[in-house]
Amino acid sequence: MSAQNEAQREQWTSRLGFILAASGSAVGLGNIWRFPYVVGENGGAAFVVIYLAIILLIGYPIMMSEMVIGRKTQKNAVGAFLNMAPGAPWWVIGALGVFSGFVILSFYSVVAGWSMAYMVKALQGFTPGMDFEGMFFDHILGVSGPLVWHAIFMAITLGIIGAGVVKGIQRTVKILMPALFILLLVLAVRALTLPGAAAGVAYYLRPDFSQISADSFLTAIGQSFFTLSLGMGCMITYGSYMNKGENISDNAAWVVGLDTGIALIAGFAIFPAVFALGFDPGQGAGLAFITLPAVFASMPFGGSLFGFLFFALLSVAAVTSAISLLEVVVAWLVDEKGMPRVKASLIIGAIIFVVGIPTFPTIMGDFSFLGGDVMDTYEFFANDIALPLGGLLMSIFVGYVWTAKKAQEEINTPKGGIFVGDWFGFLIKYVVPVAIAVILVMGLYSKITG
Ligand code: PHE
Repeated sequence: MSAQNEAQREQWTSRLGFILAASGSAVGLGNIWRFPYVVGENGGAAFVVIYLAIILLIGYPIMMSEMVIGRKTQKNAVGAFLNMAPGAPWWVIGALGVFSGFVILSFYSVVAGWSMAYMVKALQGFTPGMDFEGMFFDHILGVSGPLVWHAIFMAITLGIIGAGVVKGIQRTVKILMPALFILLLVLAVRALTLPGAAAGVAYYLRPDFSQISADSFLTAIGQSFFTLSLGMGCMITYGSYMNKGENISDNAAWVVGLDTGIALIAGFAIFPAVFALGFDPGQGAGLAFITLPAVFASMPFGGSLFGFLFFALLSVAAVTSAISLLEVVVAWLVDEKGMPRVKASLIIGAIIFVVGIPTFPTIMGDFSFLGGDVMDTYEFFANDIALPLGGLLMSIFVGYVWTAKKAQEEINTPKGGIFVGDWFGFLIKYVVPVAIAVILVMGLYSKITG
Protein backbone atom coordinates (compact mmCIF):
# COMPACT_ATOMS: atom_id res chain seq x y z
CA MET A 1 0.00 0.00 0.00
CA SER A 2 2.65 2.46 0.99
CA ALA A 3 4.73 1.97 -2.15
CA GLN A 4 1.66 2.58 -4.24
CA ASN A 5 0.79 5.67 -2.23
CA GLU A 6 4.26 7.05 -2.67
CA ALA A 7 4.11 6.61 -6.41
CA GLN A 8 0.82 8.46 -6.48
CA ARG A 9 1.67 11.19 -4.00
CA GLU A 10 1.05 14.57 -5.54
CA GLN A 11 3.53 17.45 -5.61
CA TRP A 12 3.16 21.20 -6.09
CA THR A 13 3.97 21.91 -9.71
CA SER A 14 6.08 24.98 -8.95
CA ARG A 15 7.82 26.84 -6.16
CA LEU A 16 5.23 29.60 -6.47
CA GLY A 17 2.50 27.00 -6.03
CA PHE A 18 3.99 25.95 -2.70
CA ILE A 19 4.59 29.50 -1.45
CA LEU A 20 1.05 30.57 -2.33
CA ALA A 21 -0.46 27.48 -0.71
CA ALA A 22 1.60 27.81 2.47
CA SER A 23 1.05 31.55 2.75
CA GLY A 24 -2.61 30.96 1.94
CA SER A 25 -2.70 28.66 4.93
CA ALA A 26 -0.96 31.21 7.11
CA VAL A 27 -2.94 34.26 6.01
CA GLY A 28 -6.47 33.87 7.31
CA LEU A 29 -8.93 34.95 9.95
CA GLY A 30 -5.89 35.08 12.23
CA ASN A 31 -4.47 38.02 10.30
CA ILE A 32 -7.53 40.01 9.37
CA TRP A 33 -10.07 39.24 12.11
CA ARG A 34 -8.00 38.16 15.11
CA PHE A 35 -4.73 40.11 14.86
CA PRO A 36 -6.27 43.62 14.85
CA TYR A 37 -8.63 42.92 17.74
CA VAL A 38 -5.97 41.18 19.82
CA VAL A 39 -3.71 44.19 19.23
CA GLY A 40 -6.61 46.44 20.22
CA GLU A 41 -7.17 44.53 23.46
CA ASN A 42 -3.49 44.44 24.38
CA GLY A 43 -2.45 48.04 24.10
CA GLY A 44 -1.56 48.45 20.43
CA ALA A 45 2.06 48.77 19.35
CA ALA A 46 3.61 47.30 22.50
CA PHE A 47 1.90 44.01 21.72
CA VAL A 48 3.02 44.22 18.09
CA VAL A 49 6.65 44.44 19.23
CA ILE A 50 6.36 41.25 21.33
CA TYR A 51 4.52 39.51 18.54
CA LEU A 52 7.23 40.38 16.00
CA ALA A 53 9.98 39.13 18.31
CA ILE A 54 8.17 35.81 18.76
CA ILE A 55 7.61 35.46 15.02
CA LEU A 56 11.30 35.94 14.32
CA LEU A 57 12.85 33.93 17.17
CA ILE A 58 10.28 31.14 17.49
CA GLY A 59 8.06 31.21 14.40
CA TYR A 60 10.74 31.18 11.73
CA PRO A 61 12.79 28.26 13.17
CA ILE A 62 9.66 26.17 13.68
CA MET A 63 8.40 27.03 10.21
CA MET A 64 11.66 25.71 8.73
CA SER A 65 11.55 22.65 10.99
CA GLU A 66 8.04 21.68 9.94
CA MET A 67 8.72 22.24 6.25
CA VAL A 68 11.93 20.24 6.29
CA ILE A 69 10.34 17.33 8.18
CA GLY A 70 7.60 17.25 5.54
CA ARG A 71 9.99 17.49 2.59
CA LYS A 72 12.29 14.82 4.03
CA THR A 73 9.63 12.24 4.91
CA GLN A 74 7.00 13.06 2.26
CA LYS A 75 4.43 12.13 4.86
CA ASN A 76 1.48 13.54 6.79
CA ALA A 77 1.84 14.95 10.31
CA VAL A 78 1.61 11.56 12.06
CA GLY A 79 3.45 9.52 9.43
CA ALA A 80 6.35 11.95 9.37
CA PHE A 81 7.23 11.23 13.01
CA LEU A 82 6.62 7.48 12.62
CA ASN A 83 9.04 7.60 9.72
CA MET A 84 11.75 9.59 11.51
CA ALA A 85 11.50 7.92 14.91
CA PRO A 86 10.10 4.43 14.40
CA GLY A 87 9.01 2.76 17.59
CA ALA A 88 9.12 5.98 19.61
CA PRO A 89 6.05 7.93 20.70
CA TRP A 90 6.88 11.16 18.82
CA TRP A 91 3.98 10.52 16.46
CA VAL A 92 1.89 11.90 19.34
CA ILE A 93 2.90 15.38 18.14
CA GLY A 94 1.25 14.63 14.83
CA ALA A 95 -1.80 13.12 16.49
CA LEU A 96 -2.18 16.23 18.63
CA GLY A 97 -1.92 18.22 15.41
CA VAL A 98 -4.61 16.22 13.63
CA PHE A 99 -6.84 16.74 16.64
CA SER A 100 -6.12 20.49 16.72
CA GLY A 101 -6.93 20.71 13.01
CA PHE A 102 -10.30 19.23 13.78
CA VAL A 103 -11.09 21.62 16.61
CA ILE A 104 -9.75 24.74 14.92
CA LEU A 105 -11.59 24.13 11.66
CA SER A 106 -14.86 23.56 13.50
CA PHE A 107 -14.96 27.09 14.93
CA TYR A 108 -13.04 28.59 12.04
CA SER A 109 -15.79 27.58 9.66
CA VAL A 110 -18.45 29.14 11.89
CA VAL A 111 -16.64 32.50 11.91
CA ALA A 112 -15.95 32.25 8.18
CA GLY A 113 -19.69 31.66 7.77
CA TRP A 114 -20.43 34.92 9.63
CA SER A 115 -18.07 36.63 7.22
CA MET A 116 -19.88 35.29 4.16
CA ALA A 117 -23.23 36.28 5.66
CA TYR A 118 -21.81 39.79 6.12
CA MET A 119 -20.90 40.00 2.43
CA VAL A 120 -24.61 39.74 1.75
CA LYS A 121 -25.49 42.17 4.56
CA ALA A 122 -23.06 44.72 3.13
CA LEU A 123 -24.62 44.42 -0.30
CA GLN A 124 -28.00 45.09 1.28
CA GLY A 125 -26.42 48.34 2.53
CA PHE A 126 -24.61 49.57 5.64
CA THR A 127 -26.18 52.92 6.54
CA PRO A 128 -25.40 55.36 9.36
CA GLY A 129 -27.59 54.94 12.41
CA MET A 130 -28.02 51.19 11.92
CA ASP A 131 -27.70 49.15 15.12
CA PHE A 132 -24.68 47.03 14.21
CA GLU A 133 -24.33 45.49 17.62
CA GLY A 134 -27.94 44.33 17.41
CA MET A 135 -27.32 43.09 13.87
CA PHE A 136 -24.35 40.99 14.97
CA PHE A 137 -26.07 39.43 17.96
CA ASP A 138 -29.22 38.78 15.96
CA HIS A 139 -27.08 36.98 13.45
CA ILE A 140 -25.00 34.84 15.80
CA LEU A 141 -27.90 34.11 18.13
CA GLY A 142 -29.87 32.78 15.20
CA VAL A 143 -29.50 29.12 14.32
CA SER A 144 -30.58 28.59 10.73
CA GLY A 145 -28.62 31.55 9.30
CA PRO A 146 -25.22 30.70 10.78
CA LEU A 147 -25.90 27.00 10.21
CA VAL A 148 -26.48 27.45 6.49
CA TRP A 149 -23.34 29.57 6.07
CA HIS A 150 -21.28 27.14 8.18
CA ALA A 151 -22.52 24.34 5.90
CA ILE A 152 -21.74 26.30 2.73
CA PHE A 153 -18.26 27.12 3.97
CA MET A 154 -17.51 23.51 4.91
CA ALA A 155 -18.87 22.34 1.55
CA ILE A 156 -16.51 24.70 -0.30
CA THR A 157 -13.58 23.57 1.85
CA LEU A 158 -14.16 19.87 1.41
CA GLY A 159 -14.87 20.33 -2.29
CA ILE A 160 -11.42 21.88 -2.78
CA ILE A 161 -9.66 19.24 -0.66
CA GLY A 162 -11.51 16.43 -2.39
CA ALA A 163 -10.18 17.73 -5.71
CA GLY A 164 -6.59 17.13 -4.60
CA VAL A 165 -3.36 18.98 -3.92
CA VAL A 166 -2.75 20.39 -7.40
CA LYS A 167 -6.24 20.60 -8.88
CA GLY A 168 -7.80 21.64 -5.58
CA ILE A 169 -5.42 23.49 -3.28
CA GLN A 170 -2.90 24.88 -5.74
CA ARG A 171 -5.47 25.99 -8.29
CA THR A 172 -7.52 27.77 -5.63
CA VAL A 173 -4.65 29.67 -4.05
CA LYS A 174 -3.31 30.81 -7.43
CA ILE A 175 -6.54 32.71 -7.98
CA LEU A 176 -7.45 33.71 -4.45
CA MET A 177 -4.10 34.89 -3.04
CA PRO A 178 -3.55 37.66 -5.65
CA ALA A 179 -7.21 38.68 -5.22
CA LEU A 180 -6.70 38.86 -1.46
CA PHE A 181 -3.67 41.07 -1.84
CA ILE A 182 -5.45 43.54 -4.12
CA LEU A 183 -8.51 43.73 -1.87
CA LEU A 184 -6.33 44.41 1.16
CA LEU A 185 -4.41 47.20 -0.57
CA VAL A 186 -7.63 48.88 -1.73
CA LEU A 187 -8.97 48.82 1.83
CA ALA A 188 -5.73 50.09 3.38
CA VAL A 189 -5.58 53.02 0.94
CA ARG A 190 -9.21 53.86 1.69
CA ALA A 191 -8.61 53.79 5.46
CA LEU A 192 -5.38 55.79 5.36
CA THR A 193 -6.90 58.55 3.23
CA LEU A 194 -9.81 59.20 5.60
CA PRO A 195 -9.53 62.53 7.41
CA GLY A 196 -8.26 61.82 10.94
CA ALA A 197 -6.56 58.53 10.05
CA ALA A 198 -3.32 59.62 11.73
CA ALA A 199 -4.63 58.94 15.26
CA GLY A 200 -5.10 55.29 14.35
CA VAL A 201 -1.64 55.07 12.86
CA ALA A 202 -0.16 56.57 16.04
CA TYR A 203 -2.04 54.11 18.24
CA TYR A 204 -0.83 51.27 16.08
CA LEU A 205 2.81 52.37 15.98
CA ARG A 206 3.49 53.93 19.40
CA PRO A 207 4.17 51.27 22.06
CA ASP A 208 2.68 51.63 25.55
CA PHE A 209 4.33 48.85 27.56
CA SER A 210 2.20 49.55 30.64
CA GLN A 211 -0.60 47.61 28.89
CA ILE A 212 1.42 44.38 28.77
CA SER A 213 0.83 41.47 31.20
CA ALA A 214 1.80 37.78 31.37
CA ASP A 215 -1.49 37.14 29.67
CA SER A 216 -0.39 39.32 26.74
CA PHE A 217 2.64 37.07 26.20
CA LEU A 218 0.45 33.97 26.13
CA THR A 219 -1.89 35.69 23.71
CA ALA A 220 1.07 36.77 21.58
CA ILE A 221 2.54 33.28 21.39
CA GLY A 222 -0.85 31.70 20.71
CA GLN A 223 -1.50 34.28 18.01
CA SER A 224 1.94 33.68 16.46
CA PHE A 225 1.41 29.93 16.16
CA PHE A 226 -2.14 30.36 14.96
CA THR A 227 -1.37 32.97 12.34
CA LEU A 228 1.63 31.06 10.95
CA SER A 229 -0.30 27.75 10.98
CA LEU A 230 2.40 26.26 13.19
CA GLY A 231 2.46 23.61 15.90
CA MET A 232 -0.01 21.20 14.36
CA GLY A 233 1.82 19.72 11.40
CA CYS A 234 0.14 21.84 8.77
CA MET A 235 3.48 22.92 7.33
CA ILE A 236 4.72 19.32 7.61
CA THR A 237 1.78 18.25 5.48
CA TYR A 238 2.22 21.03 2.91
CA GLY A 239 5.99 20.51 2.99
CA SER A 240 5.45 16.85 2.17
CA TYR A 241 4.16 17.85 -1.28
CA MET A 242 7.40 19.72 -2.02
CA ASN A 243 10.00 18.05 -4.16
CA LYS A 244 13.38 17.42 -2.59
CA GLY A 245 15.05 20.10 -4.69
CA GLU A 246 13.01 22.87 -3.08
CA ASN A 247 14.74 25.32 -0.81
CA ILE A 248 13.53 25.46 2.80
CA SER A 249 15.03 28.58 4.37
CA ASP A 250 13.89 30.95 1.61
CA ASN A 251 10.46 29.41 1.22
CA ALA A 252 9.90 29.61 4.97
CA ALA A 253 11.07 33.22 4.97
CA TRP A 254 8.59 34.05 2.21
CA VAL A 255 5.71 32.50 4.10
CA VAL A 256 6.62 34.14 7.42
CA GLY A 257 7.22 37.47 5.65
CA LEU A 258 3.97 37.43 3.69
CA ASP A 259 1.94 36.44 6.72
CA THR A 260 3.47 39.10 8.94
CA GLY A 261 3.29 41.75 6.24
CA ILE A 262 -0.37 41.03 5.60
CA ALA A 263 -1.27 41.12 9.31
CA LEU A 264 0.51 44.48 9.65
CA ILE A 265 -1.22 45.87 6.55
CA ALA A 266 -4.57 44.62 7.89
CA GLY A 267 -3.88 46.80 10.94
CA PHE A 268 -3.37 49.75 8.58
CA ALA A 269 -6.67 48.97 6.89
CA ILE A 270 -8.53 48.88 10.20
CA PHE A 271 -7.12 51.16 12.93
CA PRO A 272 -6.96 54.37 10.90
CA ALA A 273 -10.59 53.88 9.87
CA VAL A 274 -11.69 53.03 13.41
CA PHE A 275 -10.01 56.16 14.83
CA ALA A 276 -10.92 58.47 11.94
CA LEU A 277 -14.58 57.75 12.49
CA GLY A 278 -14.40 57.87 16.28
CA PHE A 279 -14.76 54.22 17.34
CA ASP A 280 -13.08 52.16 20.05
CA PRO A 281 -10.34 49.72 18.93
CA GLY A 282 -10.60 47.51 22.05
CA GLN A 283 -13.90 45.92 21.02
CA GLY A 284 -12.62 42.34 21.04
CA ALA A 285 -13.95 39.69 18.69
CA GLY A 286 -16.73 42.06 17.61
CA LEU A 287 -14.22 44.49 16.05
CA ALA A 288 -14.67 43.12 12.53
CA PHE A 289 -18.38 42.46 12.80
CA ILE A 290 -19.68 45.34 14.92
CA THR A 291 -17.19 48.18 14.79
CA LEU A 292 -16.14 47.86 11.17
CA PRO A 293 -19.65 47.82 9.67
CA ALA A 294 -20.33 51.00 11.65
CA VAL A 295 -17.07 52.42 10.30
CA PHE A 296 -18.06 51.52 6.74
CA ALA A 297 -21.53 53.01 7.21
CA SER A 298 -20.07 56.33 8.29
CA MET A 299 -17.60 56.63 5.42
CA PRO A 300 -18.30 59.67 3.28
CA PHE A 301 -18.81 57.49 0.20
CA GLY A 302 -18.78 53.86 -0.92
CA GLY A 303 -19.20 52.44 2.60
CA SER A 304 -21.31 49.45 1.60
CA LEU A 305 -19.00 48.63 -1.28
CA PHE A 306 -15.93 48.78 0.95
CA GLY A 307 -17.80 46.73 3.53
CA PHE A 308 -18.52 44.10 0.92
CA LEU A 309 -14.87 44.11 -0.17
CA PHE A 310 -13.73 43.71 3.43
CA PHE A 311 -15.90 40.68 4.09
CA ALA A 312 -14.97 39.23 0.71
CA LEU A 313 -11.33 39.61 1.77
CA LEU A 314 -12.00 37.94 5.09
CA SER A 315 -13.88 35.05 3.45
CA VAL A 316 -11.20 34.48 0.83
CA ALA A 317 -8.49 34.47 3.47
CA ALA A 318 -10.52 31.98 5.48
CA VAL A 319 -10.97 29.54 2.59
CA THR A 320 -7.26 29.28 1.81
CA SER A 321 -6.56 28.53 5.50
CA ALA A 322 -9.48 26.19 6.07
CA ILE A 323 -8.33 23.92 3.27
CA SER A 324 -4.96 23.50 4.99
CA LEU A 325 -6.64 22.58 8.27
CA LEU A 326 -8.75 19.95 6.56
CA GLU A 327 -5.75 18.71 4.56
CA VAL A 328 -3.87 17.84 7.77
CA VAL A 329 -6.63 15.43 8.77
CA VAL A 330 -7.33 14.11 5.27
CA ALA A 331 -3.63 13.51 4.48
CA TRP A 332 -3.35 11.43 7.64
CA LEU A 333 -6.32 9.24 6.65
CA VAL A 334 -5.09 8.91 3.07
CA ASP A 335 -1.46 8.07 3.97
CA GLU A 336 -1.92 6.05 7.13
CA LYS A 337 -5.32 4.44 6.69
CA GLY A 338 -5.37 4.15 2.91
CA MET A 339 -8.70 5.92 2.68
CA PRO A 340 -9.56 7.47 -0.70
CA ARG A 341 -9.19 11.27 -0.64
CA VAL A 342 -12.77 12.10 -1.59
CA LYS A 343 -14.22 9.78 1.02
CA ALA A 344 -11.89 11.15 3.72
CA SER A 345 -12.82 14.74 2.82
CA LEU A 346 -16.53 14.00 3.01
CA ILE A 347 -16.43 12.12 6.29
CA ILE A 348 -14.11 14.51 8.09
CA GLY A 349 -15.85 17.56 6.65
CA ALA A 350 -19.17 16.29 7.98
CA ILE A 351 -17.80 15.55 11.45
CA ILE A 352 -16.15 18.95 11.70
CA PHE A 353 -19.39 20.59 10.65
CA VAL A 354 -21.17 18.89 13.56
CA VAL A 355 -18.39 19.67 16.06
CA GLY A 356 -18.74 23.35 15.13
CA ILE A 357 -22.42 23.56 16.03
CA PRO A 358 -21.99 23.76 19.85
CA THR A 359 -20.13 27.06 19.32
CA PHE A 360 -23.44 28.69 18.39
CA PRO A 361 -24.32 30.74 21.48
CA THR A 362 -27.95 29.66 21.34
CA ILE A 363 -27.13 25.95 21.45
CA MET A 364 -24.98 25.91 24.58
CA GLY A 365 -26.06 29.24 26.04
CA ASP A 366 -25.13 28.67 29.67
CA PHE A 367 -21.80 26.96 29.07
CA SER A 368 -18.87 28.76 30.66
CA PHE A 369 -15.23 27.79 31.16
CA LEU A 370 -12.65 30.22 32.60
CA GLY A 371 -15.08 32.98 31.77
CA GLY A 372 -15.44 31.99 28.13
CA ASP A 373 -18.15 30.45 25.97
CA VAL A 374 -17.75 27.32 23.83
CA MET A 375 -15.97 29.13 21.03
CA ASP A 376 -13.54 30.79 23.47
CA THR A 377 -12.91 27.38 24.99
CA TYR A 378 -12.16 25.75 21.63
CA GLU A 379 -9.88 28.67 20.79
CA PHE A 380 -8.18 28.53 24.17
CA PHE A 381 -7.36 24.82 24.00
CA ALA A 382 -6.35 24.85 20.37
CA ASN A 383 -4.58 28.19 19.95
CA ASP A 384 -3.20 28.90 23.38
CA ILE A 385 -2.36 25.36 24.49
CA ALA A 386 -2.23 22.72 21.74
CA LEU A 387 -0.34 24.79 19.15
CA PRO A 388 2.39 26.12 21.47
CA LEU A 389 2.68 22.67 23.07
CA GLY A 390 3.01 21.11 19.62
CA GLY A 391 5.72 23.69 18.83
CA LEU A 392 7.52 22.95 22.09
CA LEU A 393 7.56 19.20 21.43
CA MET A 394 8.67 19.75 17.84
CA SER A 395 11.59 21.91 18.94
CA ILE A 396 12.69 19.17 21.35
CA PHE A 397 12.30 16.56 18.64
CA VAL A 398 14.29 18.53 16.08
CA GLY A 399 16.89 19.90 18.51
CA TYR A 400 17.64 16.75 20.50
CA VAL A 401 16.15 13.64 18.89
CA TRP A 402 16.81 14.28 15.22
CA THR A 403 19.54 16.75 16.39
CA ALA A 404 19.90 20.33 15.28
CA LYS A 405 23.07 19.51 13.29
CA LYS A 406 21.27 17.01 11.07
CA ALA A 407 18.29 19.31 10.69
CA GLN A 408 20.60 22.15 9.62
CA GLU A 409 22.26 19.92 7.07
CA GLU A 410 18.94 18.82 5.64
CA ILE A 411 17.68 22.42 5.50
CA ASN A 412 20.84 23.53 3.70
CA THR A 413 20.47 20.81 1.04
CA PRO A 414 20.27 21.72 -1.79
CA LYS A 415 22.52 24.75 -1.32
CA GLY A 416 21.25 28.26 -1.89
CA GLY A 417 19.00 30.59 0.00
CA ILE A 418 19.47 31.91 3.52
CA PHE A 419 22.27 29.89 5.13
CA VAL A 420 21.11 28.09 8.21
CA GLY A 421 24.09 28.04 10.55
CA ASP A 422 24.52 27.27 14.23
CA TRP A 423 22.16 30.11 15.11
CA PHE A 424 19.41 27.69 14.16
CA GLY A 425 20.58 25.07 16.64
CA PHE A 426 20.82 27.72 19.34
CA LEU A 427 17.26 28.87 18.71
CA ILE A 428 15.66 25.45 18.32
CA LYS A 429 17.48 23.82 21.28
CA TYR A 430 17.34 26.61 23.84
CA VAL A 431 15.41 29.73 22.91
CA VAL A 432 12.31 28.11 21.42
CA PRO A 433 11.56 25.45 24.07
CA VAL A 434 12.46 27.63 27.05
CA ALA A 435 10.48 30.62 25.80
CA ILE A 436 7.43 28.53 24.99
CA ALA A 437 7.56 26.68 28.32
CA VAL A 438 7.94 29.87 30.35
CA ILE A 439 5.17 31.67 28.49
CA LEU A 440 2.84 28.67 28.69
CA VAL A 441 3.30 28.17 32.41
CA MET A 442 3.12 31.85 33.35
CA GLY A 443 0.25 32.59 31.00
CA LEU A 444 -1.81 29.61 32.16
CA TYR A 445 -1.16 30.50 35.78
CA SER A 446 -2.33 34.05 35.28
CA LYS A 447 -5.31 32.88 33.22
CA ILE A 448 -6.46 30.40 35.84
CA THR A 449 -5.84 32.57 38.90
CA GLY A 450 -6.92 35.77 37.17
N1 PHE B 1 -3.10 30.52 9.97
C1 PHE B 1 -4.51 30.57 9.89
C2 PHE B 1 -5.00 31.98 10.18
O1 PHE B 1 -4.24 32.85 10.51
C3 PHE B 1 -5.19 29.59 10.80
C4 PHE B 1 -4.57 28.23 10.81
C5 PHE B 1 -4.03 27.72 11.98
C6 PHE B 1 -4.49 27.48 9.64
C7 PHE B 1 -3.42 26.48 12.01
C8 PHE B 1 -3.87 26.23 9.67
C9 PHE B 1 -3.32 25.73 10.85
O2 PHE B 1 -6.15 32.27 10.06
